[in-house]
Amino acid sequence: MSRILVLHGPNLNLLGDREPQLYGDTSLEEIDHMLEEEAASLGVKLRIEQSNHEGELIDVIHRERTWAKAIIINPAGYTHTSVALADALRAVRLPVIEVHLSNIHAREPFRDQSVTASACVGQISGFRAYSYILALYAAKQIIEQGPTP
Ligand code: DQA
Repeated sequence: MSRILVLHGPNLNLLGDREPQLYGDTSLEEIDHMLEEEAASLGVKLRIEQSNHEGELIDVIHRERTWAKAIIINPAGYTHTSVALADALRAVRLPVIEVHLSNIHAREPFRDQSVTASACVGQISGFRAYSYILALYAAKQIIEQGPTP
């Protein structure tokens, strides 16, 4: 069975309440519920974690590296700053999919740069909560069949 670690970075615990014009009005709990339902229908197992702390996100990546077959991560603000998080993603040698609710390439110039994306197979950005569902399909595909040709 495909096993996927889903990681939510800082401030995403406030989704629904936080800048809904950018991130939508779906709460993190609702996103996790959507993911669990979709995963169950796809026969995929998930472990989902959120942290506001860089080191904690890195610890979870290390801890789950033998359980997970792929990682879906929204590094949130750390996307644009964290060499350490990018290094951790690279270190565990798992396929990683970066997710963003908003289109980071259509916002402030500093958001156009992702430090973490270079450690990922690809990035899904701009589809609000649905970005995570698209990432789930991509992760399942990669685990079961390898990268698409
Ligand atoms: C975000 C985009 C980041 O620039 C921002 O810092 C976030 C959320 C997104 O999902 O659109 O916290 O990752």
